[in-house]
Amino acid sequence: MINGNLKYVLCCFLILLLNCSKKEVMSKDAQLEQKIDSLLKLMTLEEKIGQMSQIRHFEESAEESISEKFIGSIIHTQGPLPGEIAEEWQAKFVKLQKKALSTRLGIPLLFGVDAVHGQNTFEGATIFPHNIGLGAANNPDLVEKIAKITALESQATGFNWVFSPCIAIPFNEKWGRVYESFSESTKITESLTKASVRGHQGNLEDSSTVMATAKHYVGDGATNFGVEGGETSLSTEQLQGLLLPPYKVAVKEKVGAVMASFNTVTGISMHAHKALLTDTLKVGMNFDGILVSDWKAYSRFGGIDIINAGVDMVMAVDGDLDDFQQGVKEGVESNKIPLSRIDDAVRRILRQKFRLGLFQNPFPDSSLVKKIGITSHREIAKQAVRESLVLLKNKSVLPISKNIKKIVVVGEHANSSGLQSGGWTVNWQGTEENYKGATTILDGIKKQTKAKVVYDKEAEGDHLDADLAIVVVGEQPYAEFFGDIGHESNKLTLELTIEHKNYIRKYTRKGIKTLVVLISGRPLVVTDEINASDAFVAAWLPGSEGDGVAEVLFGEYNFKGKLPHSWPKSLEDYKGKYGPNFWDNSIKPLYEFGYGLQY
Ligand code: BGC
Repeated sequence: MINGNLKYVLCCFLILLLNCSKKEVMSKDAQLEQKIDSLLKLMTLEEKIGQMSQIRHFEESAEESISEKFIGSIIHTQGPLPGEIAEEWQAKFVKLQKKALSTRLGIPLLFGVDAVHGQNTFEGATIFPHNIGLGAANNPDLVEKIAKITALESQATGFNWVFSPCIAIPFNEKWGRVYESFSESTKITESLTKASVRGHQGNLEDSSTVMATAKHYVGDGATNFGVEGGETSLSTEQLQGLLLPPYKVAVKEKVGAVMASFNTVTGISMHAHKALLTDTLKVGMNFDGILVSDWKAYSRFGGIDIINAGVDMVMAVDGDLDDFQQGVKEGVESNKIPLSRIDDAVRRILRQKFRLGLFQNPFPDSSLVKKIGITSHREIAKQAVRESLVLLKNKSVLPISKNIKKIVVVGEHANSSGLQSGGWTVNWQGTEENYKGATTILDGIKKQTKAKVVYDKEAEGDHLDADLAIVVVGEQPYAEFFGDIGHESNKLTLELTIEHKNYIRKYTRKGIKTLVVLISGRPLVVTDEINASDAFVAAWLPGSEGDGVAEVLFGEYNFKGKLPHSWPKSLEDYKGKYGPNFWDNSIKPLYEFGYGLQY
């Protein structure tokens, strides 16, 4: 029993404690803003515009631009690599950082990279399942660990900023970026967004964490017909109810950056959408980080309008730099852009640089290099692979018996780490080749069984004595609009190719038990193939640890994954939507969102 007096004293003490910690937080923030104020006061207009510019590291004039045009950030995505080995990547960025530090004010650079499923631009890094697989696993702790490792391996190659996570809610599987997003469910996306931002950013001053970017704000996955950069015609209620909540979560987690999206919303380019960028995100949600543009946005989406709408840093790449810097300068001088808008943009950029501790610690930590792709990182990736697999059908084939004598493995996807990893792997559009450090699904199958395993890549052999055929089929790698279905420049469909359909038929027709493993960045129309096979697994895009797939097929682990999207039964289903965000309630999917069998 606590007596009245003691209670009173305890209460006072608690209130005092709360007040103290509040004051401390306030004063830390206030101190930071004071530092920014002092720096801003010293800056010329050119230096401010320089901070707002992001360029590529290999552009011939990168070093010169850093000195003379006061560049604020460097990006690496596709294109020439900064070096062969990680030490060379770090050395390249150290050199550029030294250039920035030798300018009049010595403001350090941010180095950003598209590390969207691990540090996927560096061959030899740990490559995790793409986000759609993480949506199927729906394990926030695991996503946090993955983001932490991605941050570390990104820092190990010289970066302090990643353009991830993509927190889109895809409304249409024709969109080529469905796999970059977690799920069609806003709830799942909210919870995995929180985990991802936390994992990447941790304590930002630590040398193994990075600034994260929530992208692409907003409506990227909800365009009409799933066209990348198309028109998103949603009502304000739909935007608020379905698409904005994950951003609120990211902002609450203090995400350092948000990237504007290529699409339009009710006819207005998102890059120039002041109401959504400034009023909703910055003011409404209290976002105090950097609003970064997407690729070449200055020349593509309205020149200085994007700055007035609220964009703080611009990917001034592929020849845009001078026009951007000149245009903004003239805009300020002619009062078309208020100086206060420029100051706000630069304040946000400096704020993140201070939060990352770059003024004290501008260089990457060389001791991290040895941690790239280490076993403990790959173990986490393998766990993610296992948890992401969704079992759609099982007519007493799985788990594969340890006693069978012969297995025939079919399909080029069975023996290619490139094909199993999708876009944004080694190259922007992915690779069809095996890459360093990865295992394939076939490697994994061989590890799991004493049965004779034969590989019949294109189903040309006649292995009619096999007890089981494992047919691995799916999509070729793609990224961004290259993956849109119906885009003029490609011939993608939502069905498997004739060749892949035949791989399955070849063995099912002969009466051999057939398990199909589908490698894809989205649900495909495979109703006939599911009917024809004895067992069917959706494996999404598992990344570098292909052997994780085999561990579940042979029953070392149970299936855990649940569909993060409802699964269509026919092409007709794509005319509308299905799942929790239905456009058209008359369409019933083959499998509902959340479906997934277990042993
Ligand atoms: C993509 C972004 C990416 C950026 C930088 C754009 O084309 O839409 O997701 O972060 O390129 O590579």
